[in-house]
Amino acid sequence: MDLGIRGRSALVTGAGRGIGRQICLTLAEEGVRVVVNDLFEDRAEEVAGEISRAGGDAIGASADVTDSEAVNGMVTRVADQFGSVDILVNNAGIPAISARDAVPATGGFFAGSGPEQWQRTMGLITYGVLNCSRAVIEGMSERCWGRIINIISDAGRVGEPRLVAYSMAKAGVIGFSKALAKELGRSGVTVNCVSPATTETEATAAWLAAQGEQIMRQYPLAKGLNRLGKPSDIANAVAFLSSDRAEWITGQVLSVNGGYSMPD
Ligand SMILES: NC(=O)c1ccc[n+]([C@@H]2O[C@H](COP(=O)([O-])OP(=O)(O)OC[C@H]3O[C@@H](n4cnc5c(N)ncnc54)[C@H](O)[C@@H]3O)[C@@H](O)[C@H]2O)c1
Repeated sequence: MDLGIRGRSALVTGAGRGIGRQICLTLAEEGVRVVVNDLFEDRAEEVAGEISRAGGDAIGASADVTDSEAVNGMVTRVADQFGSVDILVNNAGIPAISARDAVPATGGFFAGSGPEQWQRTMGLITYGVLNCSRAVIEGMSERCWGRIINIISDAGRVGEPRLVAYSMAKAGVIGFSKALAKELGRSGVTVNCVSPATTETEATAAWLAAQGEQIMRQYPLAKGLNRLGKPSDIANAVAFLSSDRAEWITGQVLSVNGGYSMPD
């Protein structure tokens, strides 16, 4: 199926590894020119290099998505070098943890959490989405074509113990997406969410290893397919929602989760 997005350009945040990296690779395979954002320049450049070596068109662009000035600067730089942003994938959502951090970025029961951890989790998830969306919507509206896809989490749809502030912030992104979808629909810009459950990435590797085989029971499809979620499962959904094939879909949440949860 031709997705009709060859020649479009995409900005994917937090794309130096994991799900974001795979979204970049998949969009590049569809002929999309990709801006690979990450907090860490080396990660962004590595993924952009990987795409370029495979014959695709990509550049790395490091910026902290919680910093509106840095985001605006990145979008301006990208426009000079690469043209407009047609597709924005707000993927950054798990705070980077440095060895110096006294508290974990996410995780632990709510009773043991506090403002520092909430700020880090909610700041990244909410302000990252706000800053990046704000930076690109004028251009999309002028061109009467745009796609904003927010990577949320089933934690935001059904709640997840030990991820209370994270669940709250991801649920907030659903409200943001629906409201913005109503504002931008008349400009031909769609806004949707893709909602993974646990997916095998660097961020979840240690936790998944500790769970063992037991985790497979939570996913109806896991036994039949003999696997858990992979970044490519998420990236394929993003590619579809980015495409012309999805032009009549906006303000929706698509869980890609092997059947983990089945919200209405
Ligand atoms: N992996 C899962 O099981 C899972 C499940 C549900 C939802 N998600 C969501 O999917 C998205 C990607 O998850 P992942 O597992 O690939 O994460 P990851 O931690 O493996 O990769 C995310 C990248 O984001 C970057 N990043 C962190 N803070 C940033 C900032 N302020 N600015 C720019 N980049 C920043 C990191 O450097 C990292 O390279 C997140 O939004 C996450 O909440 C993941």
